[in-house]
Amino acid sequence: MKKIVVLISGRGSNLAAILNACREGRIAGHVVGVISNRADAGGLAIAQAQSVPVQTIEHRAFASREDFDAALAAAIERLNPDLVLLAGFMRILTPKFVAAFAGRMLNIHPSLLPAFTGLDTHERALAAGVSQHGASVHFVTADLDAGPVLIQVAVPVLPEDSVETLQARVLDEEHRLYTEAVRLCCEDAVRLHEDRILYHGEPLLNPLLLSPDRKSVV
Ligand code: GRF
Repeated sequence: MKKIVVLISGRGSNLAAILNACREGRIAGHVVGVISNRADAGGLAIAQAQSVPVQTIEHRAFASREDFDAALAAAIERLNPDLVLLAGFMRILTPKFVAAFAGRMLNIHPSLLPAFTGLDTHERALAAGVSQHGASVHFVTADLDAGPVLIQVAVPVLPEDSVETLQARVLDEEHRLYTEAVRLCCEDAVRLHEDRILYHGEPLLNPLLLSPDRKSVV
């Protein structure tokens, strides 16, 4: 069983999806700790309800980004995880922090990367008039939302979509997507070699796509 640490800043619906998948045996891993940079993050209660140890490390209590990241890294290292998941963790990480967890840290981003890095992805997708939006899970590197993409899911944009309806459909798919990405990592089907993802030992030339049948990877 792989040991997983999840970093959150808010609601925690992706965290909940991972916890459920672990509990139901769909992921060969267990969440050994949840760390938030905000005491009011809703995800903390979700973890506590399942007796998962939680910690809050308030970034505002630190003089610099480097000091916060050092404290965060130390807290993570104490849990000795195989995998670190950013799940709505709203902090830009220092290169030193990223390097400490290279190859074992994933992030979920609500767009079909490399489109729409950064914030307000749903607004920007609607404004751009794209027909397909979606979500991506990528390995974290020092460049924001730019690490190698492991797996994506596409969500069609409907003519009547508002930011809220589009966001809700993408979020629903995110839960399935992150679960699948973590499942693959926990089964050692995937690893990062230098800047390349290896999938069953072979270089992954394009991100995996979560199939629309809601069951498998295609
Ligand atoms: C998700 O949309 C995720 O892709 C983005 O932040 C949001 C977090 O939602 N990085 P939740 O806290 O997992 O509900």
